[in-house]
Amino acid sequence: MKIKNICCIGAGYVGGPTMAVIAQKCPGIKVTVVDLNEARIAAWNDKDVNNIPIYEPGLNEIVGNVRGKNLFFSTDVDKAIDEADLIFISVNTPTKTYGTGKGMAADLKHIELCARQIAKVAKNNKVIVEKSTLPVRTAEALKSILDNTGNGVQFQILSNPEFLAEGTAVEDLLSPDRVLIGGETTPEGQEAIKSLVEVYANWVPRERILTTNVWSSELSKLVANAFLAQRVSSINAISELCEKTEANVSEVARAIGMDSRIGPKFLKASVGFGGSCFQKDILNLVYISKAFGLNEVADYWEQVIIMNDHQKRRFSKNIVQTLYNTVSGKKITFLGWAFKKDTNDTRESAAIYVADDLINEQAKIALFDPKVSQTQVLSDLDYLATRKPAENEKHITSYDNPYDACKNAHAIAILTEWDEFREYDWQRIYDGMLKPAFVFDGRNLLDGEKLKAIGFNFHSIGS
Ligand code: UDX
Ligand code: ADP
Repeated sequence: MKIKNICCIGAGYVGGPTMAVIAQKCPGIKVTVVDLNEARIAAWNDKDVNNIPIYEPGLNEIVGNVRGKNLFFSTDVDKAIDEADLIFISVNTPTKTYGTGKGMAADLKHIELCARQIAKVAKNNKVIVEKSTLPVRTAEALKSILDNTGNGVQFQILSNPEFLAEGTAVEDLLSPDRVLIGGETTPEGQEAIKSLVEVYANWVPRERILTTNVWSSELSKLVANAFLAQRVSSINAISELCEKTEANVSEVARAIGMDSRIGPKFLKASVGFGGSCFQKDILNLVYISKAFGLNEVADYWEQVIIMNDHQKRRFSKNIVQTLYNTVSGKKITFLGWAFKKDTNDTRESAAIYVADDLINEQAKIALFDPKVSQTQVLSDLDYLATRKPAENEKHITSYDNPYDACKNAHAIAILTEWDEFREYDWQRIYDGMLKPAFVFDGRNLLDGEKLKAIGFNFHSIGS
């Protein structure tokens, strides 16, 4: 079966960039991305490609090239499902906030709604591809809904987890380390796998396209993220030890990273990892392990999250202690709110938790992030439900330039490693601050020696 028409349900951080790259690399395939969120679709269709709803380096160019040719964004979900040979499900799967598995299991209600809608609309055989990160065995649930509620048409379910990292999504999609496709071992399953392999083979070398059974594919995604997050928590654990000794965590990371068995990546100590995947995927892993009675396995992975929470809390505690045990009424400036540089995504960003702690201590937070709006910041804090929205509004203010944000501040905290922070005129910032002027670098981004020479009281992670 040759794929000519693809539909992707969910125009988010995964669906949008992935489909843009597929459209660019497969001019013979019509790709339609649909979403219930009208504002989001309108933004994807904005005449000015700089206004698309997701900031990713290089993405606007690709969208500009293919939109209206073979890439379309629409809210007409039924029509796109009906026309497609292959449907990617790329909707959000947040951690459950209610009922059984609250705070741990993935909430699959959006996935189930998609399955029911596909079953209702489909009039011919289709390949359904899980793109969202999902707990292991979701494909089974999808299959059960599709086979029991559909119009008698055949569905093949594939798992094709996305490994792109935000901020480098386009690069990761254009030259992925690997593409993983899991499917059933039946002849129909193998046929479906082949059809998706052909799509990727338009630009990905064959030897990088791995095919497995569905369960291995689903589990590999969780495990890849768990291993990466574990490295960050491991180095963060060592950062605390370094602070108590004369060791420097960056030097330790460099020394161990040169061991080719360990490798240098994901060894950067930080204020804690964020993003929509790491925590959610580990919680999923913990949840399924517990469900199978594997308590030691569950505890082992849960420790990665415990360490990460500790690292965030430790950072805010250190700010309070250093500022003479009180930040009440003090202006503390956050540089950065996104969970990493080069993205406007703030999900699970460490900044949210550090801000929440400092607001509990009655600090006045000033904020500058090159890509994040005040509305987003408030919505992130309100989501924690620690206090009333009006209270959050009183305690945090976004600025549209860093110098105003830092003016008259007692301290600056670096929460995201945006490159531009390095280039600021730090003397000018110092001159405008209250003295002693403190900098807490949660990303080990700035040149500490230079800042100390200016007069800053400089604190970094792990030294
Ligand atoms: C991650 C996986 O990398 C990607 O393969 C998967 O598809 C989705 O989840 P993402 O969350 O976008 O991608 O970003 P990533 O670069 O992995 O960073 C996650 C968090 O870890 C960020 O908050 C980042 O700042 C932090 N991090 C990363 C560190 O603190 N130190 C490091 O050395 C690396
Ligand atoms: P991700 O990072 O996984 O891409 P996002 O939250 O950025 O997650 O995007 C998921 C998108 O899926 C959202 O824009 C949301 O509106 C959309 N969505 C959720 N459920 C449905 C549905 N049943 N039909 C269409 N779109 C949906």
